[in-house]
Amino acid sequence: MPGSTEELFKLIEWKSEYDCAVRTLNCQHKDTAIFLNKWFTDIKLQRIKQGRVATYLDDKIQYFEHFCSQHFAFEEDVITILCTRFKFNPEHYEKHIACHKNFYSSLLKVLAEQISYFKKHGDTTTIEDLIGDSLKDISRWWFYHITTGERRTGGVSDNEYRSYINSFSPHQKIDLLNEIVSKSHLPD
Ligand SMILES: [Fe+2]
Ligand SMILES: [Fe+2]
Repeated sequence: MPGSTEELFKLIEWKSEYDCAVRTLNCQHKDTAIFLNKWFTDIKLQRIKQGRVATYLDDKIQYFEHFCSQHFAFEEDVITILCTRFKFNPEHYEKHIACHKNFYSSLLKVLAEQISYFKKHGDTTTIEDLIGDSLKDISRWWFYHITTGERRTGGVSDNEYRSYINSFSPHQKIDLLNEIVSKSHLPD
């Protein structure tokens, strides 16, 4: 409709200062913000059709679990390259992996269990009451993990490797991108 703006509840607001020189990682981080904002908006505005809630939640959690596992795996590969070829602190790699694992075993698991509960027991509560707080917690985790890091992410953030990459010369950035591409074509 001309002049209308679609209402969006923003759990994560993107700023250009969060951008990373590795575009795939950058797109994935932005996509996470878009996905979580849209999911929360659907719930706040009760946009999910009656009778379709279980399917909707199932689709969302399955997509998000897959998305997270793919993003974390790719990011961990990039950090490995940084450690082995660009003198990045190897201790950070271990901490970063532990941080990603902790996200699964704490926040994402809780959300998956809440959705599973809904699928078994049906409409005993509103969807916002059921998963609204989990979506907020997950969004906070992503925001702090992408940006500054703080207690809830164990002090580990993507900003550590991002600022390292952003300090590279143009030549080094090209070398890094070539390393990433060549690794993605090689068998393990
Ligand atoms: Fe990360
Ligand atoms: Fe990340």
